[in-house]
Amino acid sequence: MKGKRVFHGTVALPVFPSWRSSDCTEPCHWDKKSPLGTTVLLENQVIVVSLSCGKIEAIGHASEPWAKKILQTSSIAGASIDSEREENYFVELGPSEIICPGFVDCHIHAPQFSYCGTATDRPLMGPDGWLEKYTFPAERSLGEDAERARHVFESVVDRTLRCGTTTACYFATVKANPTKILVDVMAERGQRGFAGNVCMDRCGPGDYIMSTEENIAETREVIEFILSHGSGGIVQPIITPRFIPSCTPQLMEALGNLKKEYDERLGGNGIHVQSHISESDDEVIFSREIDLADRDLIGVDGAASRTDTEIFDSHGLLSRNCMMAHGTHLTDSDLSILGERGVGIAHCALSNYYFSGRTLHVKHLLEKGVRVGMGTDVAGGYSPSMMDAARCTVVASRGLQQTMRAVNDAMESIETRSKGAAGSGNEHIDPTIDYLHAFYLATLGGASALGIHEKVGTFKKGMEFDAIILNVSVGKNICIFDTDNVQDIFQKLCTQGDDRNVVKVYVKGREVVNNLRQ
Ligand code: GUN
Ligand code: FE
Repeated sequence: MKGKRVFHGTVALPVFPSWRSSDCTEPCHWDKKSPLGTTVLLENQVIVVSLSCGKIEAIGHASEPWAKKILQTSSIAGASIDSEREENYFVELGPSEIICPGFVDCHIHAPQFSYCGTATDRPLMGPDGWLEKYTFPAERSLGEDAERARHVFESVVDRTLRCGTTTACYFATVKANPTKILVDVMAERGQRGFAGNVCMDRCGPGDYIMSTEENIAETREVIEFILSHGSGGIVQPIITPRFIPSCTPQLMEALGNLKKEYDERLGGNGIHVQSHISESDDEVIFSREIDLADRDLIGVDGAASRTDTEIFDSHGLLSRNCMMAHGTHLTDSDLSILGERGVGIAHCALSNYYFSGRTLHVKHLLEKGVRVGMGTDVAGGYSPSMMDAARCTVVASRGLQQTMRAVNDAMESIETRSKGAAGSGNEHIDPTIDYLHAFYLATLGGASALGIHEKVGTFKKGMEFDAIILNVSVGKNICIFDTDNVQDIFQKLCTQGDDRNVVKVYVKGREVVNNLRQ
């Protein structure tokens, strides 16, 4: 494709807390003391995208001389959003429309989409738990039936794209062949992301787990397949140990060595790694017990088990390119290690309600230097929509605030009674996250946690153009009144919007969804 695509209208721009107002074309209002980024709404903006490289050539206010010139000279200026042409076309956003960066889903299980929306009735672990009962059978079935695998993967990629997810970090199945089908589908549909075959050499059904050597061979096969795929770099490999319980120390060590090998070969930030870390009460207990057993320390007086973080770190699996899901049971000492290594955490607020037993304190992690993104965790999370994930993040943060207040009140009353003095002196960071913070986490926060924020996650000259156009009126699911300003429209989209409001999706400048045509 040649030419350019020009957009004119209101932009929702996720920004890092460190960005100065000079990075922005209009006054910025975010709280620079917060460790959490936010989203600013900028009206009357022009974005120019080069269709040959899919990058943003220019972005700024319509009053800037270059923007004025483009608006005046555009041959079809004033054309509406659906009167497109292949080259040099102009998209004039209406008053109901806002253009935003696409969502970055940092944690999603592609094969589990077949049962997404069900299986909400049991804990994660145990012989009768969620993994054994639902997950392993569903994942295994795709290894046996390529047609079914393609059907499930097309469904999850189409559905998430339709919901505005332009980057997805996928766990596939243990087998290389179905994982390759997922890679094909992502490239065909034009969804950016990562795809990894899931490594397991223990604690799973005998006909689903594989030997240590097979896990390494299948992982290598998938990495090589992706590196030579010709997806234009939009699909990238990721080493994927499922979690501590399902990987022997031998497998972890071999995966650490594989990472080292590809880090050297690929250069830059090297190869990505993903897993689950300190995710739930039952997983943490299981991991600690299995770690003691692995080291022959069961029953040894004074023997200390290690945390998930310490175990991953001992195998060289933690680095800047590492994305770990959940982390609700991480200790402060774990956070120091993760911060030092540059690891990102995928906050999966919805599935945490079902499995974790705790709520993640996102701002505490950020204060500790740990990057945070957001994940749907399909199918532990029952919705594939990042708009739902963002809403859950907001609601979970308010639940956490209430819990922290209750604890504080209880401590104060104990202190008042025992010392006759008011106040516990127990100061906490306010955990609440609003819709603007949540939108940042769902976009730029995720890109930063994945280490791809120089490419995608917000709009800046030179970045690749992954974007969605939201329209508040089109789905008839949101009511707008004459009292609503732009901020209100965006807030209504964040609180009440869904895929009906996602009218267009672009990845690397290419239109991959056009809901106006469907
Ligand atoms: N821990 C290990 N495997 C899984 C999985 O598939 N989903 C979730 N939510 N947690 C896990
Ligand atoms: Fe998960």
